[in-house]
Amino acid sequence: MPNVQQCLNQLHTDFTFSAAQLTSLAELFLHDMKEGLQGRESSLAMLPSFLTKPTGQETGSFLALDFGGTNVRVMLVELNGYGSYTILARQDVPLSDQSKNYDFTSSTSTAAELFGFLADQLAQLTQPEKTYLLGHTFSFPCRQTGTNQAVLLHWTKEIHTSGVVGHNVVDLLDQALAARSLSNIHPVTITNDTVSALLAAAYQDCYADIGSICGTGHNTCYLEPKPAKFSHPMYINIESGNFDKIPGNKYDALLDSYSARPGAGKMEKMCAGRYIGELLRLVLLDVVTQNLLFNGSCPVFLQTEGTLSGWDVAVLQDAVAKPEQISLWLAKHGSPATVSLDDGKILQHSAGLIAKRSARLAAASYAAVLRHIDPALTSFHTISIDGSLYEKLPGYADTISQSLQELLGIKAEQIKCILTKDGSGIGAAIAAATTAKKTASLK
Ligand code: BGC
Repeated sequence: MPNVQQCLNQLHTDFTFSAAQLTSLAELFLHDMKEGLQGRESSLAMLPSFLTKPTGQETGSFLALDFGGTNVRVMLVELNGYGSYTILARQDVPLSDQSKNYDFTSSTSTAAELFGFLADQLAQLTQPEKTYLLGHTFSFPCRQTGTNQAVLLHWTKEIHTSGVVGHNVVDLLDQALAARSLSNIHPVTITNDTVSALLAAAYQDCYADIGSICGTGHNTCYLEPKPAKFSHPMYINIESGNFDKIPGNKYDALLDSYSARPGAGKMEKMCAGRYIGELLRLVLLDVVTQNLLFNGSCPVFLQTEGTLSGWDVAVLQDAVAKPEQISLWLAKHGSPATVSLDDGKILQHSAGLIAKRSARLAAASYAAVLRHIDPALTSFHTISIDGSLYEKLPGYADTISQSLQELLGIKAEQIKCILTKDGSGIGAAIAAATTAKKTASLK
């Protein structure tokens, strides 16, 4: 049996990528990007969005629907031009709520029920006598054939709603709106959340050319200067969560084995909020089994799949100096236990390693994108990032910036990473605005 120090060392080995390893992962990522762009076999789908940079002068009121997998958010956004906007109204509702007896993310829910629920949320924020142009952020991999055509390729983030995969999501929303006589709401664009986050930043910042989500899911998009078959620059949704060249450890393999799509979404399973809590649970369970945590007695919550989330990673990562925080954390999971100093070390160390690996992998993918769009790194770039991990996980944003510097050897001022809070909603409104002129002339 190993001792505590040996266990900490082993975890460090399991979850740490050296600078050299990160550099070679960035190279492999860049290789897969290029293959995907050429339409060759690749773990990166490189999906066209049919949208390009906004001018910053788009104006008007737009409705935004942001469907991400955990919540649905509806917003009314006023774009004022000159990169300025105002959120006039907003509403957030969970997609599943046990206390209200619904779960639109499970396989027993149908497309009509899910999109009906989305349409109901839109109805609540709108007035029947007014007409609205709607930008829809749909945070899943879709094959787009235009700014308002998107077929869902497969669900991610452990969502299973039936009857959506393989269907045009725009049609599903249209049908739900029609069934509720909401003919005053006109969906005009559909965008991935990474594209929306990038649009929201690019509305204000001409250097914004990469958008990313570090939240429940993980993904990145960028402005491709020379997309094949198109004459102008276009945002490309990389679907980077599917990058498959990262060596995993035994916990990654275990989690993958009982996930909804074994073998797929490898990077997302190492990076995203939907999975890092579960990884932490698997690590702690293993350490308890080795008799090195909680005196070898396993709390019930560690034995149950899905009990830990990104929030637990955040709390524990920050907890070593505050043992009372660990006791509160245990109590919250219904497990009053006394915690030793070594327990504290293991909990904090495990959470910290998982969070750091996630941030460093995200940075490696950003480095690859930067090398693709600006090989000699001569320009300024802004990476627009939205999502709970980037916003709330202690040290996450700093680790990304430091790793980027480590990987690219450039000054921090040249590559700016910014939090674009609510980017998915605001970007949807901007997307709708960019097509508003065309829509008006079609009517
Ligand atoms: C989806 C992406 C999305 C990301 C962030 C992933 O699970 O595949 O399309 O951008 O989550 O929400």
